[in-house]
Amino acid sequence: MEIVSYAKSASLLERAKKVLAGGVSSEFRKYNHPHAIFYSHADGSRIYDVDGNEYLDFTLSQGPLIIGHSHPHVLKSVGDYTEKGQLFAGQHIKEIELAEKLNKLIPSAELMRFCLDGSSAVHTAFRVARAKTGRKKFLRFEGHYHGWFDNVAWGLSGNAAALGERDAPNKYPWSEGLPEHAKDEFIILPWNDLALLKETVEKYQDEIAAIITEPVMCNNGCILPEQGFLEGMRELCTKYGIALVFDEVITGFRLSLAGAQKYFGITPDMSIFAKAMGSGYPISAIVGKREWMNAIEDAKVIHAGTMNASNPTIAAALATIEVLEKEQPYERMFRLGIQLMEGLRKAAADASQELLVQGPGPMFNTAFTDLAVIKDHRDTLACDKARLGKFIAAMHDRGVRIIGRGLWYINAVHTQEDIDHAIEVAGEVLRKM
Ligand SMILES: Cc1ncc(COP(=O)(O)O)c(C=O)c1O
Repeated sequence: MEIVSYAKSASLLERAKKVLAGGVSSEFRKYNHPHAIFYSHADGSRIYDVDGNEYLDFTLSQGPLIIGHSHPHVLKSVGDYTEKGQLFAGQHIKEIELAEKLNKLIPSAELMRFCLDGSSAVHTAFRVARAKTGRKKFLRFEGHYHGWFDNVAWGLSGNAAALGERDAPNKYPWSEGLPEHAKDEFIILPWNDLALLKETVEKYQDEIAAIITEPVMCNNGCILPEQGFLEGMRELCTKYGIALVFDEVITGFRLSLAGAQKYFGITPDMSIFAKAMGSGYPISAIVGKREWMNAIEDAKVIHAGTMNASNPTIAAALATIEVLEKEQPYERMFRLGIQLMEGLRKAAADASQELLVQGPGPMFNTAFTDLAVIKDHRDTLACDKARLGKFIAAMHDRGVRIIGRGLWYINAVHTQEDIDHAIEVAGEVLRKM
């Protein structure tokens, strides 16, 4: 699947740039190789661009396509239900069915609300936590991505010096235009350091409404929590009446049908689900224990949205979960993911390349570094990003599509042949690098 040309994409990008800022509708799409690419269609584990190039897709469109592109059951369910109407600005039966399903599956999902995306659901959790505790701040971790809103667009820097001291990190902005006061809303710490977390929570216990964490630090290094870290966080939250918020935007429906909370056996107070829940349709959920979510129930906390829970999004989520329930692809996704990780490690060793491959399997990260393990965001800053860029670009030129920061996703329709092919291509690329 050698790529011949990106000429049509390049020409469409020039046209797009005249009317779309930067030629795209989401920042990350700019940084494809060799530039933003225009796609024509996608099916299963394959995606095709306007130049006729075919890619074996490990980006899954940043995660959502867990049962593959254009799954027939999803498309049919969305089509059938949308024929009855698109958006009622009122309730409909499948909305209850979906909520009942999540309630059965997810340990913390006693009450919930549906939203459009991860960012707005995260925002809702902060509002609930502040209202219930009367405290103002949330505590979050360096390198964790919780969307692009003002109060979470910090601490994602690629610059080690800008981050400051480990035990008192600077609040480094990710974007221009962030209001200074957004800085006062949060405390930020390196991840995976329970002693530092404990010390900080004890010091600021009267100010912290919520602690938010990705249960696996997928967005940066695909880092697993150290033994006892999430448990310790849970204990601290319970002890000090702080809301523990799991951002399961990536881990949800990916580590298990019930997300990371079932996988690790730790029940947060609230959690955010998005991406894989809706096979690419704009739906997310904030779910939580009744004692927290009842702030929304009795309208103390306002959560709203004209487009929330539209017919196509609810039908897409129900259909996706039905397929996951029926096919139970988890054992397979773990097995294929681990095989791919091992294959990449071996290919790198054979080519004398220092490639670190880490993660649980259904998602994992590749980084060029001599570290034996990446433990937090600061470790990721020491990795060779230029080398990674070359690797990803060369894989792309050979028809294997990986997320630019080195993240790979496995879906339920990747086959053994897909895994073998990716390892073979990676071996070829690594030897040439
Ligand atoms: C862990 C996590 N939380 C929140 C978000 C924001 O979700 P969205 O892009 O749907 O607003 C993302 C997006 O990648 C994410 O990975």
